Amino acid sequence: MVLMADRWLRSVWIVALCTASGCASAGGNDVTTDALDDTTAAPPETSSTSNGDGTGSDPEMSTSSSGGEDDSTGAASTGSTSDASSSSETDASDTLASTDESSSDATTSAPPEPDDGSSSGVGSTGAEEDSEGGTTEVHPCDRPRTLKEAGACVGFRKGGSGVRIGAAVAHHWLVADSAYRELLVREFDSLTAENEMKWGPLQPERGSWYFDTADALVDFAEEQDMMIRGHTLVWYSQKPNWVDDIQNVEEFRDVMRDHVETTLDHYRGRVHRWDVVNEAMADGIDWNGTYLRDWRATQLLGADYIAEAFQMAHDADPDVELYYNDYNNDMAGAKADQVYALVADLVERGIPIDGVGFQLHVNATPTQIAQGGMWASLYPNYYNSGAFADNIDRYAALGLKVNITEFDVRVRSPFHENEAPPDAPRSSEPITAAEARLQAKVYYEYVSTCVEKYPTCDAITFWGVADPYSWYATDPVLPFDGNYLPKPAYDAIMAALQGVPYVAPQ
Ligand code: XIL
Repeated sequence: MVLMADRWLRSVWIVALCTASGCASAGGNDVTTDALDDTTAAPPETSSTSNGDGTGSDPEMSTSSSGGEDDSTGAASTGSTSDASSSSETDASDTLASTDESSSDATTSAPPEPDDGSSSGVGSTGAEEDSEGGTTEVHPCDRPRTLKEAGACVGFRKGGSGVRIGAAVAHHWLVADSAYRELLVREFDSLTAENEMKWGPLQPERGSWYFDTADALVDFAEEQDMMIRGHTLVWYSQKPNWVDDIQNVEEFRDVMRDHVETTLDHYRGRVHRWDVVNEAMADGIDWNGTYLRDWRATQLLGADYIAEAFQMAHDADPDVELYYNDYNNDMAGAKADQVYALVADLVERGIPIDGVGFQLHVNATPTQIAQGGMWASLYPNYYNSGAFADNIDRYAALGLKVNITEFDVRVRSPFHENEAPPDAPRSSEPITAAEARLQAKVYYEYVSTCVEKYPTCDAITFWGVADPYSWYATDPVLPFDGNYLPKPAYDAIMAALQGVPYVAPQ
């Protein structure tokens, strides 16, 4: 782990020096890798529909949900307005050379140590030409150029290896769109498979495993020195339908163990953090008078399926960090309290768990309250970074870490794709100045909170790479727009990672 962190810091360092001294930026190159060989087979669930959401229309795939604010059944947008002019076709090895730790460039020989108080950790760094033709020493963390550099620099300021900056990636788009790949590689150093590692895509039929597309993502991430968050082992949604047919307690337990063990075994040493159980808590009373979600797992194993899944994951691979992941666990209110009680109980019972994932599909749409929808009454504070901070504190007090796992910020449409009226504006419609300001403010508040709570909060994953490929088709929720260009949200996130104020453009 230490080695990995060092390697990562080193590559961040080299990129920053290269940028400061005029090396070619990775952004202009086409990043192609063996991992994305065109011969990679399409997953069965997308081959017939190519809708890119990883679920397709495979009748064997259950995407049903009991409904909810984040019912996870939305489909990814297929409309891309990517600006092809921003990419030039270059061999991947050129791009990777500038971040290769074996580079013989003398300027790359001394990666800074994390600043843990025992040493300055920040030596003399790159040189930049000043306005009078002289040179000024510039430390990469004085002016980080990308999200991942800014995230690593949190480590320089506070010690440790910094905040990982991740994106949910769809294999389909990674193969199809070079601009998508370039943006991903330039800005992010952690990858989550948007759908490819879920139970349904991995084991669509009982006993027949389909690892190819997920493996391609893992190969790609490794080639790019990205950390991989595994998402997700046990979830009521996007599981195969055959799971619902199981009638017997022992059989369900065996199937769950087999799924957890086979998956962790397959990715041993490659996937470092796993969302073991996802969205076990509903938005109100659901199973047996509790907030626990009513599905085959609770029906057969009761509340304890969660503890069992964590124990199975730990037994299968004790080196992996294990997370419980949910939405609206960042809020003030009943659901967040229910999630907290569940997790606190696991900790108290000595069940192996390392952290909690906050999805943070933040809803900052003005219409949320005006429309008086069912969720408006449940979550009147439609966004509340103060509650997020309080929740981090109570998990830290349990000795747990926190990751932001699926970050996006809606400012226009409160709907999921499958709920949106046909005339709702599409996410490809440019964000207005007012929407962009609000979105930047919201992103700034949440990222600042994570940075303030570092190292408890040490990873931020955005749920997508750029707006056209977000699972929200009616709201431009991500920091990059349809041309892969940074929006005001991007500057706000950069400022928050650097711990400096952000002033929104008027
Ligand atoms: C979403 C994907 O983004 C979509 O492509 C898919 O159609 C449905 O699932 N919570 C989660 C994620 O934990 O796995 C969901 O991802 C979004 C909500």
